[in-house]
Amino acid sequence: MPEKINVCAYLRGSMDELLEKISRIRSEIDGFASAEKDVAEHFRIRFIGSSGAVKNLMGDMKSILPEKRKEAGLALNALKKYAEEKYTQLKESVSAAVEEKGHSIDLTLPGNELPVGTRHPISIVRNRIVSIFQRLGFTVAEGPEVEDDWHNFTALNLPENHPARDMQDTFYVNQDPAWMLRTHTSSVQVREMEKGYMPIRIVCPGRVFRNETISARAHCFFHQVEGLYIEEDVSFADLKQTLYFFVREMFGKDIGIRFRPSYFPFTEPSAEMDISCLICGGKGCNVCKYTGWVEILGCGMVHPNVLDNCGIDSKKYTGFAFGMGIERITMLKYQINDLRLFSENDVRFLAQFRNAI
Ligand code: DAH
Repeated sequence: MPEKINVCAYLRGSMDELLEKISRIRSEIDGFASAEKDVAEHFRIRFIGSSGAVKNLMGDMKSILPEKRKEAGLALNALKKYAEEKYTQLKESVSAAVEEKGHSIDLTLPGNELPVGTRHPISIVRNRIVSIFQRLGFTVAEGPEVEDDWHNFTALNLPENHPARDMQDTFYVNQDPAWMLRTHTSSVQVREMEKGYMPIRIVCPGRVFRNETISARAHCFFHQVEGLYIEEDVSFADLKQTLYFFVREMFGKDIGIRFRPSYFPFTEPSAEMDISCLICGGKGCNVCKYTGWVEILGCGMVHPNVLDNCGIDSKKYTGFAFGMGIERITMLKYQINDLRLFSENDVRFLAQFRNAI
């Protein structure tokens, strides 16, 4: 009957197939090589483990004609033995190699160092500045980098055509004078004052932008921290004490500090603060232009016009503000002489700050 013939043909085919598979696995065993560390274990899993190639073939026995099963079983057993012998050989050769070299793992060797990133020096110093002021009760406030004319200039007592606007070369957005990249973080103090809560005691770290030619001493973007304290009866003495505390925490107790009268449209009176030059120790060098002093920040009592512009009663409240450049402080602290290093992302430079605090 055709049906029976078909079945027989299929079963006979299975025996041939089985023998062919056996010979394929044999040559695979002969040529076995592995890049894995544990070659023997790798071999065991591939061929004799519970889901290895030999075990899988056992399942094919079902489709073999009963009278052919013995022959198939013998062939399969021979293959199994062959694989097991090869496995024993592999295990022996591996342990011989270990004996020759001594123990394969030397637990006393130092570990491999993993490449670990570092914080950027600007971030390290910014965090340090912020945490010093936080200890005095200041909190952090932030504002947008694209700013409008009111917050960057007008509210800060710099109305249109005020000559002091030229002190800061501004990047305008789409040449529209109403929108710009902020030239200083003083814009954030305006935004905070406009919120209308009292007292205000904030530091505002952030990136600022000025249209300057890039050199060792100037860049088109850099970072500042603005500070603002407004309450009843805040005085210039409070300003000085706060900044003395900051500088000593930042640079150490022995640092020289001096205030010089200055001018900013948003403060009255205004001052700049210098510290003794850390590069030459005050003896005179090109960083301090042979004066022994370097300027690190501008400050003053918030101008009454600024308070009024922001809806704060200037008869009732007074306050101080200050602004410092993070790059300048970082350069002094770590004796870095070129501003461009901060934005080039050269790993040889950045890796030096691995243990910096
Ligand atoms: N905004 C000034 C600048 O970018 C820095 C500054 C000076 C901020 C005096 C102040 C201040 O708050 O009182 O140069």
